[in-house]
Amino acid sequence: DSIAIDTLILPADAAGITQAAATFARGGLVAFPTETVYGLGADAANAAAIARLYQAKGRPAFNPLIAHVADLAAARRIGRFDATAERLAAAFWPGPLTLVVPQAPGCPVADLATAGLDTVAIRVPLHPTAQALIAAFGGAVVAPSANVSGHVSPTTAAHVAADLSGRIDLILDGGPVEVGVESTIVGCFDAPTLLRPGGVPSEAIEAVLGRSLARPAAPEAQDAEQPLAPGMLASHYAPRASVRLDATEVAPGEALLAFGPLTLPGASEATAILNLSPTGDPAEAATHLFGYLRSLDGSGARSIAVMPIPSDGLGEAINDRLRRAAAPR
Ligand code: TXA
Ligand code: MG
Repeated sequence: DSIAIDTLILPADAAGITQAAATFARGGLVAFPTETVYGLGADAANAAAIARLYQAKGRPAFNPLIAHVADLAAARRIGRFDATAERLAAAFWPGPLTLVVPQAPGCPVADLATAGLDTVAIRVPLHPTAQALIAAFGGAVVAPSANVSGHVSPTTAAHVAADLSGRIDLILDGGPVEVGVESTIVGCFDAPTLLRPGGVPSEAIEAVLGRSLARPAAPEAQDAEQPLAPGMLASHYAPRASVRLDATEVAPGEALLAFGPLTLPGASEATAILNLSPTGDPAEAATHLFGYLRSLDGSGARSIAVMPIPSDGLGEAINDRLRRAAAPR
């Protein structure tokens, strides 16, 4: 491991944003809020900064990063937009949608950040801090979620500090995020493909395209040289405790991650209970998902039982993250 550095935490105000942009310009690493989760940013054109970013997260170098830009015009300088990509950008940017497109000629994103693929993932975030930071810096910012690779994604500045203090230069604290799960990733291939469910429900994307999205084959069935979705490792978002899905009762010693009315047998025996949304609202549940997983993990329970969550709307992304949290490690 590298030598610890001092990590500054600043409010996400004008002074903080100015300092963060200057930090990018000298090759530093800054965590900042987006509407989905906190990102760990670096100058997309600076290979040395990106190498430090991979090291700070402990992220495998085969897993490429998303380039964050101010608007569609900036996105077109990085990637080639076909009719599908143009339509999705017009409908959902700025917002929690990432498009994977062929790289444009002279694409400024460092090869290290695209993991040697000939495609690039691009998004235009909606969060005012992310917008202001990209504008102040003036270039594209690559930003994975600001957690140690494989951990639960951060939805507050405190989550970022718990994972990355001593490894990054600056954290901009803009309070808790709105959406709570990462962006939806669509591959703009011949058949538009849902690479990761996320903050924009797949139903909304399919409605705009007037067709259903293709789904990638399971990771083990994909071409190892050209994986469609290199980052979709089966085990991810992993708390220390084991995670048990679709619980119909609570076992002794288990904590409970609830959803909707609490009618579960044994619920009162749970070592701790947090309810993602007592009214059963998937958007409210998404906002709380990662923070509640962290809290229940911190409660010392050996296992976290999770009540069933319907898969419509943001429920698809929630269930995707929970399946990965529950996967064998
Ligand atoms: O909401 C988000 O997308 C957050 C915020 C910070 O913007 N970022 C985020 O980044 O979730 P990260 O690195 O945790 O996830 C990026 C995903 C990975 O699964 C990666 O494999 C995939 O995007 N990806 C990046 N470039 C790709 C490409 N060219 N083709 C296919 N997948 C790609
Ligand atoms: Mg991540």
